[in-house]
Amino acid sequence: MSNELKTLTQEMLPAMNQEMKDLFQVSDKTPSLFYGMMHYHMGWVDADMQPISLYAGKQIRPLLCMLACAAAGGRWQQAIPAAAAIEILHNFSLVHDDIEDDSPTRRSRDTVWKLWGVPQAINAGDSMFAIAHLAMNRLIERGVSADIVVQALRRFDETCLRLTQGQHTDMDFETRDNVSTADYMEMITGKTAVLVSLSMELGALIAGVDSAAVQHYAQFGLNLGLAFQVIDDILGIWGDEAKIGKSASTDITTKKKTLPILYGLEQSSDLQTLYATAEPNDAFVEQVVTLLNENGADSYAQEKATAYSDSALTHLKAANPQGEAGQALYQLADMLLKRDF
Ligand code: IPE
Ligand code: IPE
Ligand code: MG
Ligand code: MG
Repeated sequence: MSNELKTLTQEMLPAMNQEMKDLFQVSDKTPSLFYGMMHYHMGWVDADMQPISLYAGKQIRPLLCMLACAAAGGRWQQAIPAAAAIEILHNFSLVHDDIEDDSPTRRSRDTVWKLWGVPQAINAGDSMFAIAHLAMNRLIERGVSADIVVQALRRFDETCLRLTQGQHTDMDFETRDNVSTADYMEMITGKTAVLVSLSMELGALIAGVDSAAVQHYAQFGLNLGLAFQVIDDILGIWGDEAKIGKSASTDITTKKKTLPILYGLEQSSDLQTLYATAEPNDAFVEQVVTLLNENGADSYAQEKATAYSDSALTHLKAANPQGEAGQALYQLADMLLKRDF
């Protein structure tokens, strides 16, 4: 990791994690099962509710939010509640997403539904959704003006709605065979990019820059989010399971319409036939990957991700980010494009 990014990450993320722990009522006592399921998902306890400190994800959204605030000339500490709210919302969406996608593993551990069943996992997700909203209210305690807080809350709720719309479309695609790449772009804009965009937008909004700059930060986030999801799609097929912490076959067995798959289906009638007829078992996964490789679906998706990342950088430049946080944003964008986890 480059210098500015490393220093700021080490300063910002512990403060954001403390904010999240306060919101989830973490204390020395063993949590009740109600809070315990949420603490488990966040990596703070094991399945027996014993405290541990585990990898809790990349936390790129809260980092972007606090970096945006600093780069736009604000005090990043004021953005901590928004950063925490976004990370909690993201984690809520993962708890429900793992049910929706029938995914047994997340961050190299059993998912909440796998351990406690689907009904309890739905409920744990709902609780996290409420906690994310409570987090936003704490902006007031950091001295952010009521005007900005109301505006931020509206954008937060609009984004939640857009995210669930993206998730709806993603699930709908599983049983549709006429999905175009334009449909796909619309879907990933909703399920992933709008939240990455909101991270930047709220950071800039809290800093108090003019609306043109806020929009450039938001557009940087949107394009970065699109690149991020395309890379997630690539890793969901060709990634190393030990690094990504989730299965590299369920996208294929659940017949997800991810970008490499859509491209493969467009290029290969053999793949179309296979998708229409075969049982999604291990042999199916192997055949699909072979056909994707033969048709260059990996490089196609990588080129798309690079193009979105380049558009993101054009907007970042236009936003004119300042100081070490500005440098760190460029470094983070570069790191995310090259990620393998
Ligand atoms: C996973 O997001 C879901 C997507 C939107 C691709 P992340 O890759 O940010 O997940 P964590 O929080 O780092 O585990
Ligand atoms: C995740 O989408 C998006 C949200 C949770 C909103 P995916 O289903 O593609 O992400 P992973 O691969 O399970 O992390
Ligand atoms: Mg999903
Ligand atoms: Mg999923």
